[in-house]
Amino acid sequence: MTDKTISKTPGLSRRSLLKAGFAAGAVAGTAGAARAAGDPLITEIQDWNRYLGDGVQARPYGVPSEFEAHVVRRDVEWLTASTESSVNFTPLHELDGIITPNGLCFERHHGGIADINPADHRLMINGLVDTPLVFTMEDLKRFPRENRVYFLECAANSGMEWRGSQLNGCQYTHGMVHCVMYTGVPLKLILEEAGLKTNGKWVMPEGADASAMTRSIPIEKALDDCLVAFKMNGEALRPEQGYPLRLVVPGWEGNMWVKWLRRIEVGDEPWHQREETSKYTDLLENGKARRFTWVMDPKSVITSPSPQAPISHGKGPMVISGVAWSGNGRIKRVDVSLDGGRNWKTARLDGPSLSKAMHRFYLDIDWDGSDMLLQSRAMDEHGFFQPTKNELRAARGENSIYHNNGIQTWHVKADGMVENVEVS
Ligand code: MTE
Ligand code: CO
Repeated sequence: MTDKTISKTPGLSRRSLLKAGFAAGAVAGTAGAARAAGDPLITEIQDWNRYLGDGVQARPYGVPSEFEAHVVRRDVEWLTASTESSVNFTPLHELDGIITPNGLCFERHHGGIADINPADHRLMINGLVDTPLVFTMEDLKRFPRENRVYFLECAANSGMEWRGSQLNGCQYTHGMVHCVMYTGVPLKLILEEAGLKTNGKWVMPEGADASAMTRSIPIEKALDDCLVAFKMNGEALRPEQGYPLRLVVPGWEGNMWVKWLRRIEVGDEPWHQREETSKYTDLLENGKARRFTWVMDPKSVITSPSPQAPISHGKGPMVISGVAWSGNGRIKRVDVSLDGGRNWKTARLDGPSLSKAMHRFYLDIDWDGSDMLLQSRAMDEHGFFQPTKNELRAARGENSIYHNNGIQTWHVKADGMVENVEVS
């Protein structure tokens, strides 16, 4: 059992994968340390107890406590050339349950946040339809609507980790994912209103932002579970998430979830737009690219402890917590390893288990204070497992940055600090 078994690879060039050679044991302990007698927080009246607090007019739109000010989306400055075509990351290490609060959903824009008055917004349906149509927001709200909880993951999530562990925190390694409840109209109903021609086999949603995002989606998916959504977690979409209208493409890569949705064209073949040819395709070792990798495969990550959420309480009872999701359906099982993948325990799934949504898992352990190499491995209801990073590299090489669902390792040290590492 030695630190030499672990490699920290700060730069892409310095990857070295070493052997994980120990098993972390578990011994009994106590969670509640005895508090010092005479604690003034118990024996003395505090200001918040003595004085009246703010009244109901102080906060017309509620915001988190000032003591939660560190729980924010963060970006990585060197990652993109401009802030308009950029990304920030969900602070997964600070969240629990399965729903991402609206203000913490990661943002990915290719042309900045469009600023649209809903009264000026239109959705056009054209192409291979009987009657081309244009809807106002009010028109759309007269269709029957549905509420569904789905995760959205950018195909580039974990992309910086393909060649070795690099970023210190699950916010950065896995934070291009969020999970909210959408309210919207099934795309099927809108397409049926226009009347699909029999040769209509593909749809192309288009965004109203400066990037005019466009992607090709097969008609089977469009008629299956896609939504044209105007609410997230009960309130209007946030501008960052496509206000006033976005497409929801459950389980498929985030790039297809066109924001500020203004047009859907129906065609008889895919359009091969920029974002499905030069971008969002996976370049393999032989120089060929995988075409149309739509589904997001099963993935999981331990959110606590993790580099941004070290263990501060010392040894004894503790909760290992994380999230798992799969574009194929429900998560059936999550295994957690404390020793770099040698031994696995089945974690406890908690909260709603919804298809193509985030799942929360816990493993409650007694930490004996020794090093751990924490890993989690998700399995979905169709039996798909998360691969190790080396299995992924063997299958797809190292040219790609998209669709990295490899198993993440966190090295927890005796002092409770946590580092992003790889084991083999
Ligand atoms: N839609 C438009 N119109 N413009 C965009 O830049 N970015 C796409 C997708 N839809 C984008 C878009 C990408 S790459 C992703 S991952 C998701 O939106 C991100 O959604 P979010 O910002 O709600 O997290
Ligand atoms: Co994306």
